[in-house]
Amino acid sequence: MNQLIIIEHLEPKLWPWCTIEYESISKLIPKDNLWFTNIKENGSKLGKLGKVTKESVIDMNLEDVCILDPDAKLTLNPEESRKFKYFVIGGILGDYPPKKRTKVELTNKMKGVARNMGKKQFSTDNAVYVLKQIINGTPLSKMKFQNKLNIKINKIESIDLPYYYPLINGKPRISSKLISYIKKKKSF
Ligand SMILES: C[S@@+](CC[C@H](N)C(=O)[O-])C[C@H]1O[C@@H](n2cnc3c(N)ncnc32)[C@H](O)[C@@H]1O
Repeated sequence: MNQLIIIEHLEPKLWPWCTIEYESISKLIPKDNLWFTNIKENGSKLGKLGKVTKESVIDMNLEDVCILDPDAKLTLNPEESRKFKYFVIGGILGDYPPKKRTKVELTNKMKGVARNMGKKQFSTDNAVYVLKQIINGTPLSKMKFQNKLNIKINKIESIDLPYYYPLINGKPRISSKLISYIKKKKSF
């Protein structure tokens, strides 16, 4: 892999949910190809996963950049994806309905070409998973997805995650660590 994946952290803190998603990304992208930018906390655990900088990608003035933005007009395809050196993904937790934070906080503020991977919202780690499939030659139209995921907390309670999930062997992609975290947080 000779392209770089840049996660621009845009949450006010490095919440556990963010860290779990970033760990999940590090299982997809080699350490040398993964940057975490706009990380204000010192000594973050992210150093094990990739290059970490306090600087925002917005101030880096990089060339050949593709910003992954659900609100972009055009969809990224495998052929075009080979032309870019950098891919920027928002380290933004999902919100429903989406507030167009990627457009407001990234696309409108930096130089680069914005592309969508469909209009539905993936988590940050699943956006990286789908991007990787596209870079490796699979167009979005050949992938399978599921809308929403229901997680059972216990016999009575469950929660719906209102996002779009790529299917791997028919199963929605979500890290087991995130499922444990959600269950622990919601149970009492
Ligand atoms: C959980 S999403 C946050 C989306 C945010 N609610 C918004 O409306 O912009 C985290 C990141 O994954 C990427 N992403 C998620 N779904 C995408 C899609 N359908 N197309 C392109 N990028 C996507 C974007 O880079 C986005 O900043």
